[in-house]
Amino acid sequence: MRKLMVGMMGLAAVCGAGFVYAQDDKPKYTTKQVMKGAMAGGLTKKVAGGDASKEEKEKLVAMFTALSQNKPNKGDEKEWKERTGKMIEEAKKAVDGASDFKVALNCKGCHSKHK
Ligand code: HEC
Repeated sequence: MRKLMVGMMGLAAVCGAGFVYAQDDKPKYTTKQVMKGAMAGGLTKKVAGGDASKEEKEKLVAMFTALSQNKPNKGDEKEWKERTGKMIEEAKKAVDGASDFKVALNCKGCHSKHK
């Protein structure tokens, strides 16, 4: 896995760098794909705002599930599992009509530990 020193300013450049690494047993989405699709892409916010379709909510569950199967770039793997596990729960609750996103929207909280 590449270790990247990514500052906020580097993000755009990194997005264009593509997928250079391969993973052994592949979760459905890479962490980068989840970040681009759900986090920076706004799907999480859309679901949190209550505007998303059922399909979009289910996609978010799938993305967070893959996220939890991926390894963090750094930090404790147990904490990563806990954090992403809570995100799966938040997304599942959204499928049932709730909107209670705290962990998923705490971008900085996770990045400072695991990115
Ligand atoms: C559960 C932890 C977690 C949460 C929550 C999280 N991120 Fe991330 N994010 C990561 C990790 C880990 C990476 C590094 C991925 C890599 O380098 O493979 C990352 C990378 C990124 C990137 C760079 C993607 C790339 O292509 O290099 C962006 C943009 C990003 N996150 C945006 C967000 C935004 C916006 C939020 C909040 C709405 C958010 N993230 C919430 C863990 C998280």
